[in-house]
Amino acid sequence: MASVPTAAIIGAGSSGIAAAKALHERGVPFACFEASDRVGGNWVFGNRNGMSAAYRQLHINTSRERMEFSDFPMPRTYPDYPHHAQIAAYFDAYVDHFGFRDRIRFETRVEHARRLERGGWELTLDDGSAERFDALLVANGHHWDPRWPEPMFPGHESFAGEQLHAHAYRDNDIFAGRDVVILGMGNSAMDIGVEASYVARRTFLAARRGAWIIPKYMFGRPVDQLPQDPRIPFRIRQRVIHTLIRLHVGDPTRYGLPKPDHRFGEAHPTVSGRILDRIQHGAITPKPNIRRLDGEHVEFDDGTREHVDVVVYCTGYKISFPFFDDDLVSAPDNRIELFRRVFHPEMEDVFFVALVQPLGAIMPIAEVQGQWIADYLKGEYALPPRPALLEDIEHELTAMRRRYVASKRHTIQVDFDDYLHAVEKERRAGAERARRQGFRLPVAPHLAEVSV
Ligand SMILES: Cc1cc2nc3c(=O)[nH]c(=O)nc-3n(C[C@H](O)[C@H](O)[C@H](O)COP(=O)(O)OP(=O)(O)OC[C@H]3O[C@@H](n4cnc5c(N)ncnc54)[C@H](O)[C@@H]3O)c2cc1C
Ligand SMILES: NC(=O)c1ccc[n+]([C@@H]2O[C@H](COP(=O)([O-])OP(=O)(O)OC[C@H]3O[C@@H](n4cnc5c(N)ncnc54)[C@H](OP(=O)(O)O)[C@@H]3O)[C@@H](O)[C@H]2O)c1
Repeated sequence: MASVPTAAIIGAGSSGIAAAKALHERGVPFACFEASDRVGGNWVFGNRNGMSAAYRQLHINTSRERMEFSDFPMPRTYPDYPHHAQIAAYFDAYVDHFGFRDRIRFETRVEHARRLERGGWELTLDDGSAERFDALLVANGHHWDPRWPEPMFPGHESFAGEQLHAHAYRDNDIFAGRDVVILGMGNSAMDIGVEASYVARRTFLAARRGAWIIPKYMFGRPVDQLPQDPRIPFRIRQRVIHTLIRLHVGDPTRYGLPKPDHRFGEAHPTVSGRILDRIQHGAITPKPNIRRLDGEHVEFDDGTREHVDVVVYCTGYKISFPFFDDDLVSAPDNRIELFRRVFHPEMEDVFFVALVQPLGAIMPIAEVQGQWIADYLKGEYALPPRPALLEDIEHELTAMRRRYVASKRHTIQVDFDDYLHAVEKERRAGAERARRQGFRLPVAPHLAEVSV
């Protein structure tokens, strides 16, 4: 009988490989299943898994030094905000550097994950075969299942123009000489709006809510590298950053954009170094929300009406787990209750990697979560007693609801530095609990050895 449980990881995007590296280093036997022929997920332009949202000109919007893994810096020849091809190459190099490529089963999609009666998981793969593991790490990404406007706007079925979701957007040649509406105020809308504005006849940016648009640089440094000490109460940090943005960017209504109905830090950050310029140059015209589509026209909430050839819905994504039965694990309206965004309250042997939407980059968070899961699988971390765990989940959800604008995009928010700090603290507390319990394994190793 093995002395450590076996594990399966679903996905070898940046989160899956971060978790895989942690298990590899800590001697947890695992297999990582990846639908594509390569690692990198979203960052592989034209990924053959059909799940990547990357467009030709995509650059990261979290800076290189915030995004890189702690023990594998990005090449210093990279710019502050590298292109997607550089990011994909970086993830590829990470796997080779730490030597676990042979643990990844490429071109192998997990079709179904079934929980066994005595615990453990049976995975059905796309070749029809099934394999069993003691534990399951879910790293299938949460930016690949498009969320269209709900409900869709009246007239969308008979609209004469083209309608697409940001997820399907690849290159701005589709906008050449056309009248374009970009809907949304998130980062997809910013990037795609800017790209459209260089080639389209007219570009409209429609939004149902305003946003504080953060530039990529402040005081000559990438904006996410400004000091963020988690020991300073959030409200004080918020006040400082809010003031800085107001001073730096000014009032969004001066650009014709809607007045934000919230303060900075109460919505997922919208980062763009270029959108305000393009608006000021007259290349993008702000509009309120779409009211309806009407033949070759779009009518907006202020009653204005424009001829439109293309509408791009930059309306976000759904959290989806197609391989779980809905009654086992699902995220209706993007809601899913987990302890510190990782541990399932009802099942001790399933974990979620990078199911967070940070004010900051996802990768270092996935890295720490992977190490934390490895601690747990090896019996070196014990969860808090159940009442405390449930109370913690409730507390987190209440705090998120209180702080953030009510929207399906704000259900898994974390502050980068605060989250990392809190996880470190919790890992220490759980290590002490594990010691007191005699380093008992919470997931019994009783299923077959891993074969790759
Ligand atoms: C346009 C865009 C830009 C972004 N920019 C940034 C940024 O600058 N900084 C940042 O931190 N985040 C950014 N994000 C967020 C993005 O989610 C992360 O950058 C990152 O891709 C998350 O990695 P992941 O591994 O969790 O998911 P993904 O990159 O989506 O990878 C998931 C992997 O799982 C595999 N998979 C899924 N289902 C299965 C299955 N059933 N069986 C086998 N394999 C499966 C997929 O093939 C894929 O390789 C951006 C998102 C978008 C859409
Ligand atoms: N360059 C980059 O690095 C880059 C580029 C693109 C995306 N990303 C990342 O990818 C993730 C997804 O970003 P995203 O911009 O695609 O999605 P998002 O952040 O979820 O933003 C969706 C936007 O659509 C609006 N919206 C949703 N439903 C609507 C409706 N029915 N009518 C009108 N407006 C509606 C939302 O408004 P409400 O706020 O009112 O809900 C919001 O403004 C984020 O993590 C983002 O940072 C990064």
